[in-house]
Amino acid sequence: MPDPKIEIKGLGRSFKSKESKDDFWALSGFDLTVEKGEFLAVVGPSGCGKSTLLDLVVGLSKASAGEILIDGKPISGPALDRGIVLQGYALFPWRTVKQNIEFGLEIKKVPKKERGKVAERFIKLVELEGFEDHYPHELSGGMQQRVAIARALAYDPEVLLMDEPFAAVDAQTREVMQDELLAIWEKTGKTILFVTHSIEEAVALSDRVAVMSKSPGTVKEVVNVALPRPRRIKDVRNTPAFRLATGQVWDLLQNKAHESEADDSAEAKSAKPSFDIGNEILPDAVI
Ligand SMILES: Nc1ncnc2c1ncn2[C@@H]1O[C@H](COP(=O)(O)OP(=O)(O)OP(=O)(O)O)[C@@H](O)[C@H]1O
Ligand SMILES: [Mg+2]
Repeated sequence: MPDPKIEIKGLGRSFKSKESKDDFWALSGFDLTVEKGEFLAVVGPSGCGKSTLLDLVVGLSKASAGEILIDGKPISGPALDRGIVLQGYALFPWRTVKQNIEFGLEIKKVPKKERGKVAERFIKLVELEGFEDHYPHELSGGMQQRVAIARALAYDPEVLLMDEPFAAVDAQTREVMQDELLAIWEKTGKTILFVTHSIEEAVALSDRVAVMSKSPGTVKEVVNVALPRPRRIKDVRNTPAFRLATGQVWDLLQNKAHESEADDSAEAKSAKPSFDIGNEILPDAVI
């Protein structure tokens, strides 16, 4: 039985346009349902409205049309049930690494001793031991991103909203963190909405991939990922199901009709790019 956690219905978001008197619609007629405990990835060309979508689900901005329901209830501003890792880290510059990670726990009124323990666990997870008392400006971009991920995970929300969380992390650390995220998700049953520019990352992590089209942003199609759970990145990367799903997403982004597996001719194969899971930023022409 489907059990929706997030229902997005006819969602639209407009902004005042500088060039014309008409408003600019970043999102319009956007429909998507994320089931309880589902890992759903969103991909789409730069500027198609992915971050705008997450801002709306987080409750940081207000919809111009349509509605978003969480557990059947319309959202009304930011709430403790949704944890976020936004594009661009968004750390508190006046707080140390440890204090940043403890932030959500303070809001939840977790006692100090317990907060410290949880923060330590997640500092270890994102491999930032020794940097506990550093401030964000003393860290590299990738390290800051890891703090933002640790902060969201430590906070332990029911819904995790992640906007390109691994984009600035080096390839090796990325795979460690992707596997950790999968392990945490498998253990905790969180609902995850995950925005990425990497087709491979989207497929490797998720149950379904929503492919967006541009201007105004809307859902073009949702691709099912028929990979087993529990899953580790290295085990799925070269499987036929992985290639099928990445091919489908790739075709949708290029406005091509789906190719069936049987149609995987040598010509079609050679025309397809090969990309590693580490190639998070694909060329602009692609996505
Ligand atoms: N506050 C704002 N005011 C005006 N326009 C905005 C605002 N926020 C976003 N936009 C516009 O909405 C569109 C979607 O932006 P958004 O940041 O959601 O794209 P995105 O899919 O996240 O892109 P990227 O993949 O590059 O991160 C863009 O054309 C952007 O210029
Ligand atoms: Mg964005």
